Amino acid sequence: MSLQLGDIAPDFEADSTEGKIRFHDWISGGWAVLFSHPKDFTPVCTTELGEVARLKPEFEKRGVKVIGLSVDPVSDHRKWAADIEETQGAALNFPLVGDPERKVSSLYDMIHPNANDTLTVRSVFVIGPDKKIKLTITYPASTGRNFDEVLRVIDSLQLTAKYQVATPVNWQRGDDVIIVPAVSDEDAKKKFPQGWKAVKPYLRIVKQPQ
Ligand code: BEZ
Repeated sequence: MSLQLGDIAPDFEADSTEGKIRFHDWISGGWAVLFSHPKDFTPVCTTELGEVARLKPEFEKRGVKVIGLSVDPVSDHRKWAADIEETQGAALNFPLVGDPERKVSSLYDMIHPNANDTLTVRSVFVIGPDKKIKLTITYPASTGRNFDEVLRVIDSLQLTAKYQVATPVNWQRGDDVIIVPAVSDEDAKKKFPQGWKAVKPYLRIVKQPQ
């Protein structure tokens, strides 16, 4: 069965561009994003890795470590890194796991044989400080991911982990949020003393807690 939200992200040891990594130790009680790339020296992946390198300060602001994976060996990743810097104007500044034996890819179900039986799809796993999987996204190899969306979801995950709220459609940091249905109006009065707008009894809009 494939990995599901709430499952513990499987631990692994693997070689990376920043040396050997024992995944759970590397996460070290923080948030993490693990994302896969079908293959080295491929155009879409090259643009994605440049973009994540550029966005690294945004991930760091949120206390999130990022780690990529591609099924080629680390020796190839190192050569590819020079192309990424040259063409994207951003140097790889996070580890890229080498997975030539498809060990990690198999553990995380990143290979979808009916799409391609050797390369990975574009998987994204957001992992919380409890090492549980909070989000999975799967894109096909032909479509580059939107890492602003990954950051947006992380904002929602971190907010909703702290407060009993949920975020509505297209929510962005700072927008109003929704009081979760599990909170009664009586409890909501204590948790949200500034009040809320009840569009329906089950749709209660409140300012984003800070
Ligand atoms: C790419 O990263 O450009 C790519 C990789 C595999 C298949 C198609 C595109």
